[in-house]
Amino acid sequence: MPASADGNAIEIKGLRKSYGDLMAVDGISLQVEPGELFGFLGPNGAGKTTTVNILTGVSLPTAGSATIHGHDVVRDSFRAKENLNVVPEVSNAYNEYTAWKNLMFTGALYGVPRKETARRAEELLRTFDLYEKRGAKVKGFSQGMRRKLVIAMALINEPRVLFMDEPTTGLDVQSVITIRDMVRGLNRKGITVFLTTHNLVEANLLCDRVAIINHGKIVATDTPENLKRAARQVQVVEVTFDRMTPETEDGVASLAGIKEASRQGDKLRLITDEPSRAISTVNRFADEKGLAITFINTPGPSLEDVFVELTGIGGSAKGEAGR
Ligand SMILES: Nc1ncnc2c1ncn2[C@@H]1O[C@H](COP(=O)(O)OP(=O)(O)OP(=O)(O)O)[C@@H](O)[C@H]1O
Ligand SMILES: [Mg+2]
Repeated sequence: MPASADGNAIEIKGLRKSYGDLMAVDGISLQVEPGELFGFLGPNGAGKTTTVNILTGVSLPTAGSATIHGHDVVRDSFRAKENLNVVPEVSNAYNEYTAWKNLMFTGALYGVPRKETARRAEELLRTFDLYEKRGAKVKGFSQGMRRKLVIAMALINEPRVLFMDEPTTGLDVQSVITIRDMVRGLNRKGITVFLTTHNLVEANLLCDRVAIINHGKIVATDTPENLKRAARQVQVVEVTFDRMTPETEDGVASLAGIKEASRQGDKLRLITDEPSRAISTVNRFADEKGLAITFINTPGPSLEDVFVELTGIGGSAKGEAGR
């Protein structure tokens, strides 16, 4: 990706934020290039929102620095803010205002001329399928409609860098798909997106690069594919037998070389250091027990496995099969 004349879209150096004894953000450094769709991934309480709040000028860092297109978020916060906007974790739309008034109000906050705000508001409402609802108060909006409005509000100043803090959390499947398409579309138009999520599947689906944050520290930064490749320890074998009884599961779990076996849908998911040996062992086991293997596969580690490996935290995003 070509570097723009005014440098990285986001540059963070040794950023810290403490709340009393708690180091919520503990010396993080990273760069996001213009045009990237960057994922900031971590479990609850990892420090994601704290970081976004500092980068968007909502709170001050305890130490370290950050710039948006070369403008320091503390010393040059006005210029930094001209380049960014944010879809916050909690809706910032006024419930008693209509969709239209929220957009006009946000435009005024960002110093966009009134006529231009109205033009952009109409375009955004049409794009996000909310134009018919422009005169309705936000308090009557569904979660998904509200999230789309908040995204529209964040686009009213035509930011070059868009921060999105958990944009799909709490939405139904259809709205999640809509919002993810929206995020991709914005990024394709050239907007740099800094997407905060605790959802590995989402990071895997959307992001060019991902930083994993845990307890205020970045434990890895790479492409989703490289992160998966890096987790050599986490090799997976998936197997289905013609009879999937609890005895079969326990039997497989106790085989030599199988670190862990868990049932996922119609498959047994095995964690091992040596997939090829595990496959032989499972074959022998099937022969001994008179079982037939109906499916066997070595899919490689999912981003979730990598996350568990790097942070020591399991089970945060079970249920969606993201590879
Ligand atoms: N204003 C505050 N005062 C005191 N502690 C805070 C404050 N804001 C955040 N924290 C603490 O800082 C840590 C990081 O919180 P943060 O909100 O950044 O996490 P997060 O990664 O966004 O989590 P989530 O996925 O739940 O949104 C947490 O331990 C939290 O309790
Ligand atoms: Mg948060």
